[in-house]
Amino acid sequence: MSESDLMQKIISLCKRRGFVFQSSEIYGGLKSCYDYGPLGIELKRNIMNEWWRAMVHERENIVGLDASIIMHPKVWEASGHLSSFSDPLVDCLNCKERFRADKAPVVEVGSEVTYKSQATKKEVTSTADRKYVCPVCGSTELSAERNFNLMFRSFMGSVDPVSQVADKLAGQSLSGEEVRKILEEELKPSTVYLRPETAQAMFVQFANIQKSLSLKVPFGIAQMGKSFRNEVTVEHFIFRSCEFEQMEMEFFCQPGTQKEWLDHWKDARLDWYKTYSNSPEKFRLRQHDPDELAHYADNCYDVEYDYPWGWDELEGVASRTDYDLKKHAQNSGEKLTYFDQQATDPETGKQGWRYTPYVIEPAAGATRATLCYLLDAYREETGVDANGKEKVRTVLKLHPRLAPIKAAILPLMKKNGMPELAREIAKKFFKAGVMAKYDDNTAIGKRYARHDEIGTPYCLTVDHQSLEDGTITIRDRDTMEQKRINVEDALKEVQQRLEA
Ligand code: GAP
Repeated sequence: MSESDLMQKIISLCKRRGFVFQSSEIYGGLKSCYDYGPLGIELKRNIMNEWWRAMVHERENIVGLDASIIMHPKVWEASGHLSSFSDPLVDCLNCKERFRADKAPVVEVGSEVTYKSQATKKEVTSTADRKYVCPVCGSTELSAERNFNLMFRSFMGSVDPVSQVADKLAGQSLSGEEVRKILEEELKPSTVYLRPETAQAMFVQFANIQKSLSLKVPFGIAQMGKSFRNEVTVEHFIFRSCEFEQMEMEFFCQPGTQKEWLDHWKDARLDWYKTYSNSPEKFRLRQHDPDELAHYADNCYDVEYDYPWGWDELEGVASRTDYDLKKHAQNSGEKLTYFDQQATDPETGKQGWRYTPYVIEPAAGATRATLCYLLDAYREETGVDANGKEKVRTVLKLHPRLAPIKAAILPLMKKNGMPELAREIAKKFFKAGVMAKYDDNTAIGKRYARHDEIGTPYCLTVDHQSLEDGTITIRDRDTMEQKRINVEDALKEVQQRLEA
């Protein structure tokens, strides 16, 4: 299967089986916005629940936060997002494509480049004067680079800012620059932004959380939720979208210990991804080059995955220094420091040290991880059917704890008391909160195939023997092996396998 085939197969399976749909599809769709269907939401939630369990519930010193998506605009001034959270945009003067300079195909300055001119429809050869060419037509006829801020802007309050601006501008004869100035002035008081990352709320609430729970450094604050970026380049299905979900944790530590904690968290995060994978070798760490580092970081590793288009980012684990806490302290006038009674102040040599904690930030994308685990799980296996004919089985080998449906409860036939017993078993699963589906549609082989394709790890079948001796079969999705177990043990058996 070729790489682009695999992506196409995943996209098609996502739509066919209800994992992911294009947003607003009946109106032609909205570019780079996606809806997670009945199975997609289960898979994404399971990934997020596993992250929360590993990052918060299994640790003594990490607590959670669920902050407002809309925050005070001063947050984004202090964090630097207003001034520098932008992409370098370029227009191709040949084919009119708008693209990101930093994501465009790389060429050597001074090399000869050939592309098709849209005007003459003939091949043109020119000398590249930049390190990149147009990603669509390969042309070197490019506009200047402009910085484009990625934050979505909106307006808060009961006054309609557009009417206000219209009143102010009515009847005036102004230059473009003057109109722009008035617009910015009138809109500024009601301007708010959709958060482009979940991280900032953890810095802004640092003191409240530390004091209310008397937390001792080192400790972490974790948050999962939606983030929004007006991405110019949207690519690879849900890999990069304008609305996505993040799972971020800010780990506050003593200055000087950041290297040791960065080492700890980069390894812990890599291991976490591998736990749920069929191909752990497809995950790796890559240290950022110094010129790649964000303005707030002194070191950073990406957890990368070997996607069909090559190695690319899945999560960033950054050493953010004390940049954010210091910036928010300066801009708000609040004290965002920590007093450690046990530590010795390195400047005075006395016991008791007040400092601004350093921060290690594992920042993951839940929607990107959803794509990664779909790719990791997709298999087409060739076998033979009951008549010896070759057939291909499509199976999603999702980790059982990530699988949308944990158990399918299947009566072999719709008669002789089989549906009743199957429904009784299903009820026990529902009551225990273990996601199960009763399914009596079509022949048993087709039902197994359907559940293989959506990644259901266990199929429990009620057959003739079940009514005689109180046993059912449990079929394993990956090995297709079946074993007989007592009806009473069905729920426990599945729960034990899920925890294994
Ligand atoms: N607080 C740091 C931060 O937000 P980032 O590298 O910009 O860092 C972290 O984002 C993670 O969020 C990425 O590794 C990726 O998994 C996810 N992510 C970022 N932008 C995304 C987008 N447009 N669509 C989907 N996921 C995205």
